[in-house]
Amino acid sequence: MPRTDATLQLFEREIDAWRIRKKDSSERKSYDEVFNQQNLMRIYKLFSDGVIDRFDFPISTGKEGNVFRASTLKGEHLAVKIYRTATSTFGEMAKYIQGDPRYFRVKTKNKNRLIMIWAEKEYLNLDLFYRVGVRVPKPIAYHANIIVMEYIGSDKEPARQLRNVTLDDPEEISRKILNYVKLGYQKANIVHSDLSEFNVLMLDGEPVLIDVGQAVLKEHPFAEEWLERDVSNVARYFRRYKVDIDVKAELKEIRGK
Ligand SMILES: Nc1ncnc2c1ncn2[C@@H]1O[C@H](COP(=O)(O)OP(=O)(O)O)[C@@H](O)[C@H]1O
Ligand SMILES: [Mg+2]
Repeated sequence: MPRTDATLQLFEREIDAWRIRKKDSSERKSYDEVFNQQNLMRIYKLFSDGVIDRFDFPISTGKEGNVFRASTLKGEHLAVKIYRTATSTFGEMAKYIQGDPRYFRVKTKNKNRLIMIWAEKEYLNLDLFYRVGVRVPKPIAYHANIIVMEYIGSDKEPARQLRNVTLDDPEEISRKILNYVKLGYQKANIVHSDLSEFNVLMLDGEPVLIDVGQAVLKEHPFAEEWLERDVSNVARYFRRYKVDIDVKAELKEIRGK
């Protein structure tokens, strides 16, 4: 049964409580932005469409958006990422939209429009990665500036970022990540473009790539440069484990030439 007016009121009270618990004023401000009237209407649509039944807890307050754990009526966990309109870095975002063949005709002047394109792009990118077997959260739905995807974590807590775990077999994990880069590039023509220890989660010892909004197709004029940056980031991070990654050789392998 979809949510009724009474349960919607309950939801608003819940988020008020989260807001109050946030001592940090910048975080509180981000709640005001993310739960503005327009976003609440969009969240209600996800409730009434039966995509989600409730919000469980906030996972992350980032620069551009907030991530929450949510649940379905059946009790399955999901992650909901909501982009905030007011504080996004639009100049940066435009760079990753313009030049992507999927968005050649888009005029990116309007902030609201840009943010919706970004959310759509993130959803489509997740789908591209997911289909070719790159381990990313399974895309579930998107609506306006909101993306619903598979939740990566345990019942109690979200999976930790790569930077916050100690790996038993770093070599193997680095191989898996680089293999995902190759799979994405060769099978889906896509480059993550923001790959780092911040955007890899570790779930039951396995790497999961996240945060794919900025990923671009190979045809983007900066795709090769950003591919190189991705691989260099992986190499840089794994140096702390004394894993030696030859960036040039890896790039050759990924590009297949
Ligand atoms: N599907 C997910 N499941 C669990 N946690 C997630 C999921 N997606 C994002 N997160 C958490 O939220 C944080 C921010 O998400 P991310 O997509 O990297 O956005 P940004 O870096 O732009 O704020 C991640 O570092 C991770 O801790
Ligand atoms: Mg991130």
